[in-house]
Amino acid sequence: MTYDTLIRQALIIDGSNTEGYVADVGLRDGRIETIGDLSTAAAVHEIDATGRVLAPGFIDVHTHDDTVVIRQPQMLPKLSQGVTTVIVGNCGISASPVSLRSDPPDPMNLLGSAAAFVYPRFSDYRSAVESAHPAVNVAALIGHTALRSNHMDDLHRTATAAEIAAMRVQLHESLEAGALGLSTGLAYASAFNAETDEVLQLSEELTAFGAVYTTHLRSEFEPVLEAMDEAFLIGRHAQVPVIISHLKCAGAGNWGRSPQLLAALESAAKTHPVGCDCYPYAASSSTLDLKQVTDAFRITITWSTPHPEVGGRDLQDIAGEWDVSLMDAARRLQPAGAVYYGMDEADVRRILAHPLSMVGSDGLPEDPFPHPRLWGAFPRVLGHFSRDVGLFPLHTGVHKMTGLSAARFGLSERGEIREGHWADLVLFDPLRVRDVADFKAPQCAAEGIESVWVNGVQSYSNGQANTQRAGRFLARSGDLRQGFKWESGT
Ligand code: ZN
Ligand code: CU
Repeated sequence: MTYDTLIRQALIIDGSNTEGYVADVGLRDGRIETIGDLSTAAAVHEIDATGRVLAPGFIDVHTHDDTVVIRQPQMLPKLSQGVTTVIVGNCGISASPVSLRSDPPDPMNLLGSAAAFVYPRFSDYRSAVESAHPAVNVAALIGHTALRSNHMDDLHRTATAAEIAAMRVQLHESLEAGALGLSTGLAYASAFNAETDEVLQLSEELTAFGAVYTTHLRSEFEPVLEAMDEAFLIGRHAQVPVIISHLKCAGAGNWGRSPQLLAALESAAKTHPVGCDCYPYAASSSTLDLKQVTDAFRITITWSTPHPEVGGRDLQDIAGEWDVSLMDAARRLQPAGAVYYGMDEADVRRILAHPLSMVGSDGLPEDPFPHPRLWGAFPRVLGHFSRDVGLFPLHTGVHKMTGLSAARFGLSERGEIREGHWADLVLFDPLRVRDVADFKAPQCAAEGIESVWVNGVQSYSNGQANTQRAGRFLARSGDLRQGFKWESGT
């Protein structure tokens, strides 16, 4: 039997959170056909992978790649990390279904300017992804703020019954067309005034589909536990899984509280399917939020529409140069993006190491001076946190970016190296793998990621993307509750 590709003698870390083993892997027709001793088999492409790790392609469960997968389908920032699937539509903002009246409201502008929002229905977005043939697989959530902007003339209030009904129709249609679930960004001004009841009503659309509720909490600062309770209330009401986005303790007064947050998550997980994602850095990034302007920690400006020349500079410096307060400088810079050095490293490590956390980059691909998580999150977990710091064994780090993620989001036949699964794979050097992107030079490909296969097609090798792009649109498959374990569940 001749395979399309044979990867010989790699240490296979299969994504299931168990130790690796050495074997050969034969790929055919986009799938993993055989795992074992294939020393007598032949293939069109043969790779000697001695000393290398073969893992399932990484699943970036938290992205804002909605429009970039169409406009820059080579997806180099992700492919170069070994990422083979991205989940878009997080934090309440999605490219579809959207019909804008004017400029996209903050933070929908993180996905691009008005010209990028040309998908009035989710099915339009899905077709656009399919015809763009991105290099990575794409699955999508529906943003609550996107729905609000379609039906409300003023986002700074809660929705009326008629507006909620209209949002429900759009959410329902999108779920029918394959969306994974609903995301909210309740901390942002464009959704903050949505009362819990508005989200509770929307969440009822998720129930019959077994779809997921993901949330950028109403607060990541002092009231974070109350915000988690709100998220669990919504999930219990709809009887659907809850994924807390980028779980963190934000703000200097909040440092050291990660054990409380994780205890709350664990206790909820006993009776309900819940989990979280996080990125492996102690700095966050988003639009420049006046509520977060402080002198308690460093803030750098990544972009500013009226002052593009300040990208990469500290807010403190800019304010000093202009001889104004931090707040006045921040006002003048609007609209703008920022990196906030507002977390404590010990909290980041505790959350990253917790068994309920998955890795998601939260990278911002439109940002001209992006947070380095866009290019570095996944290799940073493998190199820095697993190998160098010893936070967890390599197979646990891999599990948090593959098997666990695929189970939680119902990405069937992906996330683990098993016969019959799709051949989404990454081959890396465990001794050399490391994130190169940092806060000074954030757009750099990682080292040590040697080859990446997407649906069996070698899509990245020797530091270069290949011309053939093999990503697919991944529609929701089945009931997402099945990817969790809890007392009253499976
Ligand atoms: Zn967010
Ligand atoms: Cu996000």
